[in-house]
Amino acid sequence: MKTELLEAQLLAKIDLDRLPKHIAIIMDGNGRWAKRRRLPRIAGHRAGIRAVRHAVEACARLGVPFLTLYAFSAENWKRPQTEIKLLMALLREYLKKEIGELNRQNIRLGVIGRVADLPKAVQADLDTAIDKTRQNTGMRLTLALNYGARTELVDAVNALLAYAGSNGSAQVDEDAIARHLYTHDVPDPDLLIRTSGEMRLSNFLLWQVAYSEIWVTETLWPDFQQENLFQAIIDFQRRERRYGGLGLA
Ligand code: IPE
Ligand code: IPE
Ligand code: MG
Repeated sequence: MKTELLEAQLLAKIDLDRLPKHIAIIMDGNGRWAKRRRLPRIAGHRAGIRAVRHAVEACARLGVPFLTLYAFSAENWKRPQTEIKLLMALLREYLKKEIGELNRQNIRLGVIGRVADLPKAVQADLDTAIDKTRQNTGMRLTLALNYGARTELVDAVNALLAYAGSNGSAQVDEDAIARHLYTHDVPDPDLLIRTSGEMRLSNFLLWQVAYSEIWVTETLWPDFQQENLFQAIIDFQRRERRYGGLGLA
């Protein structure tokens, strides 16, 4: 079936009044995509950028308010230097090329993770892109870079300890923790997508996904199209979210 037709058919099944507020994606499978084509891993990362564009555009077009993309984990530094260097170069290229498109789509860019430990040039490009999209009022696109959920919790605990030290209070509740996470101004994800079939969280948003609906697809990230995103949302809308209660039944 032609892609546009399939997309239109899937789109018609989506209830626009019940969209997930926040979609988070673990973009996985770039390396395997390249390997299957006997290409270097970086070719998979480059193809992955096209999929980023599809996902961003699909979410913005639907009116999803928050999209978070796991782009580089705190553990990804274990990879060969050459791959890391190329990933950082691709990220810089994306940030520079994409500002115009983000502005056209009224998208505001944000970042979570230990940004200060990224190469200085990457930090500068991030600052520019965030600054140039700051005034936008549409979707909030958050890139998770040098992000690890455990590191995030450690940073939150240290911030809380510093606060308690200055204020004499030692009581911490869920709200206090949530307020000190990198995601303090973003709601918890309703829908968590992972590509390439892996059934794990890989240290992504551990606190925030407590009640997220998880959707895993075998599709490798570079092959991810708008239709995959629409299918994830359709499946999400068929789920019954109970939060430990008895639900609707
Ligand atoms: C995801 O693809 C992108 C990053 C983690 C940066 P991978 O590079 O993990 O691809 P696979 O898992 O090896 O196929
Ligand atoms: C998770 O993918 C991190 C990102 C998508 C950025 P990985 O490929 O790093 O995860 P593992 O190593 O398979 O758990
Ligand atoms: Mg991987």
